[in-house]
Amino acid sequence: MGGGQDMGASANAEPMLPEGEPLRELPRLANESTVPGSFKARLTAEPATARFAEGLDTPILAYNGTNPGPLIEVKEGDRVEIEFNNNIPGEESTIHWHGMPVPADQDGNPMDPVASGSSRTYAFDLPEGSAAAYWYHPHPHGKTAAQVYRGLAGAFLVKPKSDPIPAEYGDTILMLTDLRLATDGTMPASTMADLMNGRVGDHVLVNGQKNPKLSVGEGAKRRFRLYNATNARFLKLAFDGALMTVIGSDGGLLEAPVAAKGILLSPAERLELIVSFEKPGPITLYTLEYDRGWMGPGRPADAGLTLLTVDVSDSPAQPAPELPRKLRTIAALGAPAANRRFVFTETMGMGGMSMGSGGMSMDSHGMQMGGEDMSMGAGGMKMEFLINDASFDMNRIDVVSKAGEVELWEVVNQADMDHPFHVHGTQFQVVERERGGKVSRADYLSWKDTVNVARGETVRLLLRQDRPGPCMYHCHILEHEQLGMMGIVNVQA
Ligand code: C2O
Ligand code: CU
Ligand code: CU
Repeated sequence: MGGGQDMGASANAEPMLPEGEPLRELPRLANESTVPGSFKARLTAEPATARFAEGLDTPILAYNGTNPGPLIEVKEGDRVEIEFNNNIPGEESTIHWHGMPVPADQDGNPMDPVASGSSRTYAFDLPEGSAAAYWYHPHPHGKTAAQVYRGLAGAFLVKPKSDPIPAEYGDTILMLTDLRLATDGTMPASTMADLMNGRVGDHVLVNGQKNPKLSVGEGAKRRFRLYNATNARFLKLAFDGALMTVIGSDGGLLEAPVAAKGILLSPAERLELIVSFEKPGPITLYTLEYDRGWMGPGRPADAGLTLLTVDVSDSPAQPAPELPRKLRTIAALGAPAANRRFVFTETMGMGGMSMGSGGMSMDSHGMQMGGEDMSMGAGGMKMEFLINDASFDMNRIDVVSKAGEVELWEVVNQADMDHPFHVHGTQFQVVERERGGKVSRADYLSWKDTVNVARGETVRLLLRQDRPGPCMYHCHILEHEQLGMMGIVNVQA
């Protein structure tokens, strides 16, 4: 589909999203503090209207009226104070600082809701060495999935005091979200298929735009920070005809650059890339096939979607220095003092459930779909996403850890779908993966806060929590998190 369209606007036409517009920069959250080393601002979550498709208004939720939310940019070592106003009618909310080294009581956990119409201030200090591409999103009990796909998510960049990546490469955030629009421009409520698989939209957007355009000179090198901020979409990506080099993961730079052909970003993961645009002509960022496991109808046709088009002109780019061979040092976490095991399972009781074309529908009482209320009664069916046979309970501590102690976590996926595993409050190191009896060690050290655990796979990771308090761990398919695939590790001082 090209940018120009002259389809007759019929009442039932699929909404057309304009393509090929210049890539927007994310609006920045202004610092209201004049004190060096301090960042102060306000974020208000409230209903807003977006114009994704020609002639159609889409009611969304937005932070400070923008979708995606405003970019927060600070420096490592900064003190951050953000006042949060919840103006979402009738719903509690929180702001969770995904991946950031934030004290548990400032991390927007479901145990600390902010009621509709009220506000609170989140305050934390960002330690040295915490530079990375993080993000923020709501985390209220039972409402996270809907608040995020309705528009609440933003990028949070912590910049280093000195950056080894040449400034000539720029620093471009590509925040990937996805969107489903009904013919009237509204976002339809989630179906049963959405709850099972996670909600996957019809359009993948970059900074809120469909297939926007970026222009560079021949031979340019560009730094991109890719975010998978979708609820549930697995994005296997490549730049067609350009060289990709991975330089960073969720928790900041790698030790050394790594050449890549295709990259998999599971929900909530981030990746930093350098892309070299050697020859003139259009270069696209597009999706490759990836099988993440799917139940029932509605599987998205994901291969070959164009997410971004880079126009490489034939006038040469400004010369820029080479990428350094060494980016930083990452200390290995060392021998664990404790071993833990987390087993993911799904249980589907099929009694009373029938498959419809648009998803699943219930023919017995016991399940409410209206308003995204996913509670399920004892009646018809039971659909559960479990960790160690348990569904999330806010009043239950699942694991007790000691602050400062290294632990080995073994995450076992015995389910029929991939589940991206995320832990709050820290960054971990993936040590090895095991699938079908085959063990593979990680090729290089990196800091991660989310890792995909494929169907039938076991991922072993080392982690250390340094701040006491209750931290969540969960599947970052947000519908699964909401349906129980979450636990609490209480970190003791
Ligand atoms: Cu990005 Cu507990 O979440
Ligand atoms: Cu998180
Ligand atoms: Cu999951």
